[in-house]
Amino acid sequence: MKKFLVLTMLASTVFFLSNCGSAKKAAAPRKLTYKTDISVLIDQNCSPCHIPSKGGKKKAFDNYASVKMDIDDMIKRIDLQPTDRGFMPFRGKKLSDSTINAFKQWRTDGVLEN
Ligand code: HEC
Repeated sequence: MKKFLVLTMLASTVFFLSNCGSAKKAAAPRKLTYKTDISVLIDQNCSPCHIPSKGGKKKAFDNYASVKMDIDDMIKRIDLQPTDRGFMPFRGKKLSDSTINAFKQWRTDGVLEN
């Protein structure tokens, strides 16, 4: 009977530990994507000027292909100071660090679409 108890305890400890391991793996940072992360930020911060359906007349950033192609220039401009020539958002306020970092992280993650 004692042996059985010890075995049960051992088994549940192993079970518990292995579950901990997989929980840690699941919590690894997710890669940012255009669909989930970046299109929302562009909608919030680069609209209406760069969103043709909202009347924007500047370079269109409402689709993955153009954003992927221009991401270096976009990051360069949002990294400037509002008093610098070429600063974006045009005549607006500097984006928050977390927003700027999301654009950078997306590039680092490999400019994924989905
Ligand atoms: C209030 C309108 C407005 C907003 C909002 C705005 N822009 Fe612009 N954008 C402009 C104008 C005007 C130009 C053209 C002048 C220039 O190139 O500096 C431009 C040009 C650009 C260009 C160069 C495009 C080209 O033709 O090569 C990039 C890149 C850019 N913007 C990025 C952004 C990003 C990224 C955001 C959002 C974080 C943003 N802009 C928000 C008005 C805006």
